[in-house]
Amino acid sequence: MPAPLATSTLRRLERTARAAARKSYSPYSKFRVGTAVLAGSGKIYPGANIENASYGLCNCAERTAVFTAAAAGERQLRAVVVFTPTATPTMPCGACRQVINEFGPGAVVIGICDSAKRIETTLPALLTEAFGPENLIKGSQRRIARRAR
Ligand code: THU
Repeated sequence: MPAPLATSTLRRLERTARAAARKSYSPYSKFRVGTAVLAGSGKIYPGANIENASYGLCNCAERTAVFTAAAAGERQLRAVVVFTPTATPTMPCGACRQVINEFGPGAVVIGICDSAKRIETTLPALLTEAFGPENLIKGSQRRIARRAR
């Protein structure tokens, strides 16, 4: 179980995610999403969904935030908060779950919205038996192949 977040940190994450949604560029879906990630350094990074006229190139808020943190040198993620201005909370899509797993395999994931409803869970609960960096440890396939012979 990941360490519980301090109430003040949680509030800052929620405020950051709400503010990030206002920066969303979503003229096509009109579905604003804002994210805040808490990195191992203690810093919080925002992200919004950024759409594109070539629809397949739309980038989710979660990936924007994770990539922003990683580009700042962060390599660990402790928490991801997703805000949508909706009646029910939104959880990261499958692609974003995989991207979060790279740096936050044990991260807390929280969905908040415009109502009091919220979802508080963890990345392992959202992405069971995840494929991650440890699967690519050099030589692991060769070792297994040798054992199978
Ligand atoms: N979107 C996110 O940013 N995060 C999610 O968890 C779900 C979907 C975005 C992608 C697209 O810009 C819009 O929401 C509609 O799918």
